[in-house]
Amino acid sequence: MAGTGVFAEILDRDVYKYYADGEWKNSSSAKTVAIINPTSRKTQYRVQACTQEEVNKVMDSAKTAQKLWTKTPLWKRAELLHKAAAILKEHKAPIAECLVKEIAKPVKDAVTETTLFSFDFFKVVRSGDLVSYTAEEGVRILGEGKFLISDSFPGNERTKYCLTSKIPLGVILAIPPFNYPVNLAVSKIAPALIAGNSLVLKPPTQGAVSALHMVHCFHLAGFPKGLISCVTGKGSEIGDFLTMHPGVNCISFTGGDTGIAISKKAGMIPLQMELGGKDACIVLEDADINLVAANIIKGGFSYSGQRCTAVKVVLVMESIADALVEKVNAEIAKLKVGPPEDDCDITPVVSETSANFIEGLVKDAKEKGATFCQEYNRDGNLIWPLLLDNVRPDMRIAWEEPFGPVLPVIRINTIEEGIHHCNASNFGLQGCVFTKDINKAILISDAMETGTVQINSAPARGPDHFPFQGLKDSGIGSQGVANSIKMMTKIKSTVINLPTPSYTMGNGGHSKL
Ligand code: G3H
Repeated sequence: MAGTGVFAEILDRDVYKYYADGEWKNSSSAKTVAIINPTSRKTQYRVQACTQEEVNKVMDSAKTAQKLWTKTPLWKRAELLHKAAAILKEHKAPIAECLVKEIAKPVKDAVTETTLFSFDFFKVVRSGDLVSYTAEEGVRILGEGKFLISDSFPGNERTKYCLTSKIPLGVILAIPPFNYPVNLAVSKIAPALIAGNSLVLKPPTQGAVSALHMVHCFHLAGFPKGLISCVTGKGSEIGDFLTMHPGVNCISFTGGDTGIAISKKAGMIPLQMELGGKDACIVLEDADINLVAANIIKGGFSYSGQRCTAVKVVLVMESIADALVEKVNAEIAKLKVGPPEDDCDITPVVSETSANFIEGLVKDAKEKGATFCQEYNRDGNLIWPLLLDNVRPDMRIAWEEPFGPVLPVIRINTIEEGIHHCNASNFGLQGCVFTKDINKAILISDAMETGTVQINSAPARGPDHFPFQGLKDSGIGSQGVANSIKMMTKIKSTVINLPTPSYTMGNGGHSKL
């Protein structure tokens, strides 16, 4: 159970502590932040409201710890990460419980965040697996250097030998989103640590308690004091203070528009940003309708559409649109709607603000004449799945991401029309195309201005070692295990200068030696 057993020390009289200098602490502010359960809409948990002073201390400890950590051998860093992964896997149940309560993740998805594959005889825990994979990958990537000889440049023939290696950036600030507060935290923590950095985590408010439990798994693994910290609190008090802090050497952020504001304020430090998306699903005449419908359901409605990689607009050829809409409607009718504890497919969206925003998009579509395939239904933060057909470009839902279980269908007459709509978006995260013609699929993929195009499957970030990146307002840099490790390092060169060219040695040379 959350906050009990090995997790008892992270809780003090119903308030979760923050983690700094290898210890769980109460904030001197004596203030707390409430985490509202999206289903009951009542306070579920409370976390510390850290002060700027406490952030300063965390940054100092992170800097000191990093200086020692960078000298810690790679195998030792990897060993500790493997240990943390094992502890995380062992304690997936209480963490999943928090995910259900604070972000209304259906039980099966909550376990999926920590458990990716479920085989008959064993389970692989996704986040733990990601940590272990990162440890392995890091040992290989970071153990390699590069050697260059100057002989391509006139006047420098073989007089300069350059040795390059990857060194850590310093202190990494990780800010994961509410929808994956554990998985998208470890996808930042593990590469940062294996690369020799220290890490300060600022979890989302909804999702903070799941993240604190996860951080405790790293604490139990025995990482040095100050190397990992986790501060909680109000964005208005410590948000900008953290992202503009001079002690931060890199920010890895996943979330919404806030990322654009952060990138403008952050200054001259490397940024890894995964922001929103309006992932388009282009469906051609020859597509397998059953496959498309299954992927639209999975891609558009899993975790109630609250995924940056959710299918957010269907662009279907008019000739098969009726058949596809009918099939998708039949599948929507099978979705179970209700609380996450009942393992429903559609659960309450994260907050009332979010539900109101979604409702605004639905109202706008209604006023402008979209066809409602289901009746619009809402109870508190719970919104029933809704397919909107005959959506036109003048409707907000054609461009904005609802981050909820509402999916627009735009009927197209040509492939170019589909590509045009996709590329007119300010987002460029992922897209997908369904067709049996692989040549057409590749041409369409080439034309779509998105970081990834999936052929005959819904968009998705994983597997976690695949490159994952957004174009335009969808992000900066590329994620995926190897890319994140590289991104959290910088190149250091040492150049050995010879007094005379090395080719003067040996047969035919004219060296005096
Ligand atoms: O919400 C953003 C996540 O990066 C999406 O990840 O495709 O595994 O659901 P996912």
